[in-house]
Amino acid sequence: NKGKYEHYMQKEIHEQPESLTTTMRGRLLLGGTSKAKGVLLGGLKDHLKKIRRSRRIVFIGCGTSYNAALAARSLVEELSGIPVTMEIASDLVDRQGPIYREDTVVFVSQSGETADTLQALDYALENDALCVGITNTVGSAIARRTHCGVHINAGCEIGVASTKAYTSQIVVMVMLALAIGDDTISSKVRREAIIDGLFDLPSKAKEVLKLDQEMEDLAQLLIAEQSLLVFGRGYNYATALEGALKVKEVALMHSEGILAGEMKHGPLALVDETLPIVVIATRDTCFSKQQSVIQQLHARKGRLIVMCTEGDAESVCAGGSCRVIEVPQVEDCLQPVINVIPLQLLAYHLTVLRGYNVDQPRNLAKSVTTQ
Ligand code: UD1
Ligand code: M6R
Repeated sequence: NKGKYEHYMQKEIHEQPESLTTTMRGRLLLGGTSKAKGVLLGGLKDHLKKIRRSRRIVFIGCGTSYNAALAARSLVEELSGIPVTMEIASDLVDRQGPIYREDTVVFVSQSGETADTLQALDYALENDALCVGITNTVGSAIARRTHCGVHINAGCEIGVASTKAYTSQIVVMVMLALAIGDDTISSKVRREAIIDGLFDLPSKAKEVLKLDQEMEDLAQLLIAEQSLLVFGRGYNYATALEGALKVKEVALMHSEGILAGEMKHGPLALVDETLPIVVIATRDTCFSKQQSVIQQLHARKGRLIVMCTEGDAESVCAGGSCRVIEVPQVEDCLQPVINVIPLQLLAYHLTVLRGYNVDQPRNLAKSVTTQ
């Protein structure tokens, strides 16, 4: 039931304040006078000791689910001190990469039925790793075959393009990082800031959804373009990949997410006055580096659309002209949840304006059950 919406993708984008709330329901501990703030992931509580002892955490997924894991990678490393490696499921299987019994392998999949991810799961099970599932579908193959896991509880997602599942997956992996990270005095302030940030996240998502009209106007400007680049780094490299995936998947426009740190190693050659480029430059430790990326793109007369923190519009575009998308600021590791929403809206409006099928893009299936 699409309710007041025309398409499922549109409904699922706008539903994110609620889906984020249900993902966190019962899992965040507010703390009180004598109790610490914390998280409770029922599906993991008996396995946390073993996870904390692992030598490595391996995140495995395909498409959007891979991107969600990438968004959470550095926080898991920061809070747990355990190295995290990333694997695209098919690539791990293709090269039969090393997986050890001391590894915790986390399988991220909205449907829980993706064939490539399932094959990687069989492979990790054969190699005796601890296998953890993060899925939206209770009773799915991944939920059944993993040793333990977390349901993201985002509600049924119907649009082929994953939207609300992506943001809920990130939130679950942030909670995973909090659950396996040591509750040390030195990390207390950081952990509490993240938990407070999680509490506030649904209302910030609601705020950023107000950009809907602005994103439709931007889509109108970009309607006839051949290509759109998206530059991000740090926590928002994943946002660049995910924004580009949405644009290519539904709007059928070439789009590429690029790690801004790699710009000078090739992509800069593409920059001219015509190619539209989104630069994600919200406030975090990478901000000054992104400012210098913007300057370099300005110097080459790049056609820029800069996503920045509210209040930064003027300073961020000094030195050239650009269009700005201003988003509310949240804790750095949660910023990808907020930043992806305008890009989801942009992909949605581009698709509608270009006259393509939003919920069923050509050649794609919601759940890819063949290899
Ligand atoms: C569970 C209940 C929830 C109830 C809550 C009350 C289910 C599905 N969930 O939620 O309805 O409100 O207790 O405390 O009954 N699992 C995997 N692999 C996966 C995902 C999950 O093995 O990919 C396992 C978990 O380890 C766990 C079980 O499935 O044993 C349920 O996981 P989850 O729904 O996340 O647990 P709770 O949040 O505790
Ligand atoms: O169900 P899964 O999360 O395992 O699906 C993985 C990919 O097939 C999926 O995310 C795909 O990239 C989406 N259509 C992206 O919107």
